[in-house]
Amino acid sequence: MDRIVEIEKYSFDETYENSLRPSSFDGYIGQESIKKNLNVFIAAAKKRNECLDHILFSGPAGLGKTTLANIISYEMGANIKTTAAPMIEKSGDLAAILTNLSEGDVLFIDEIHRLSPAIEEVLYPAMEDYRLDIIIGSGPAAQTIKIDLPKFTLIGATTRAGMLSNPLRDRFGMQFRLEFYKDSELATILQKAALKLNKTCEEDAALEIAKRSRSTPRIALRLLKRVRDFADVNDEKNITLKRANEALNSLGVNELGFDAMDLRYLELLTAAKQKPMGLASIAAALSEDENTIEDVIEPYLLANGYIERTAKGRIASHKSFSALKLKYQKNLFEE
Ligand SMILES: Nc1ncnc2c1ncn2[C@@H]1O[C@H](COP(=O)(O)OP(=O)(O)OP(=O)(O)O)[C@@H](O)[C@H]1O
Ligand SMILES: [Mg+2]
Repeated sequence: MDRIVEIEKYSFDETYENSLRPSSFDGYIGQESIKKNLNVFIAAAKKRNECLDHILFSGPAGLGKTTLANIISYEMGANIKTTAAPMIEKSGDLAAILTNLSEGDVLFIDEIHRLSPAIEEVLYPAMEDYRLDIIIGSGPAAQTIKIDLPKFTLIGATTRAGMLSNPLRDRFGMQFRLEFYKDSELATILQKAALKLNKTCEEDAALEIAKRSRSTPRIALRLLKRVRDFADVNDEKNITLKRANEALNSLGVNELGFDAMDLRYLELLTAAKQKPMGLASIAAALSEDENTIEDVIEPYLLANGYIERTAKGRIASHKSFSALKLKYQKNLFEE
């Protein structure tokens, strides 16, 4: 059963997710200051009949970056073209994308921290001056051809703002960091999503699912999907607290919202008895890749003080020991 939970966490049904994605700011719950700012900038750009400045969204997986990019294009009345940095292998790939844009389009590049330096170079003049510099030939005979591009808005998303190069980061006129959600916000997201799934969800049930969702809408919606299965099997249109608890318990999601992978991570770190563990050793011990550990598992644990990140590695905090009902062990390995 544990393994099923893990696999699902990383291969979440995209159709289900897309069907629940709000298309305008009205359906987008929380992240109030981001919404407030974006509303002003969108209104101003529309008033001046200009393209919106380039925008960077950063923050842990599943908090709504892709959703925001889509909402912005909708609110601007613009087309959105979506790609991800790992799909842009050569500078020619990016040149093809850029020359195919139309005036006012939104270009969304996901995982933008993964662009190679050579491709970033192509992006700089495109972002700054809407121009493409193509170098033909090499050595002294090399020539640069400049091609004008239509005005467009680049929206970049990253789970690792720190990995973005400074010149690239500086070229985004707006930069927003998404925050983890409050339980009450997640409960609202869940109740709205339930309606889209042709169900109603009682408030206490929504709050219970929210509490166990690691403050993340994607996880809340994934849990809702399972709770819905339990309701369906029982021919219930209304999701009650009892049914929610039954489903959540059977999935092995505990009261703190930890799933099987979080628990394995914390067990590993607490077993190290305060000795810092490096990312590579954690990844090897959990048979999980380093990116997943840094992007999916750790942000919530760090934000909530379960772990600390030091120069030497990760350490479990007092809070993890009590969460796992272990006695806090003093740092036996401190120099
Ligand atoms: N503020 C919100 N209100 C309503 N639904 C939301 C909100 N934020 C996210 N969601 C829902 O949560 C799911 C995940 O959001 P999204 O795909 O935008 O996350 P992301 O930040 O792009 O994640 P990743 O870093 O993995 O690409 C989507 O189904 C989306 O509809
Ligand atoms: Mg995304």
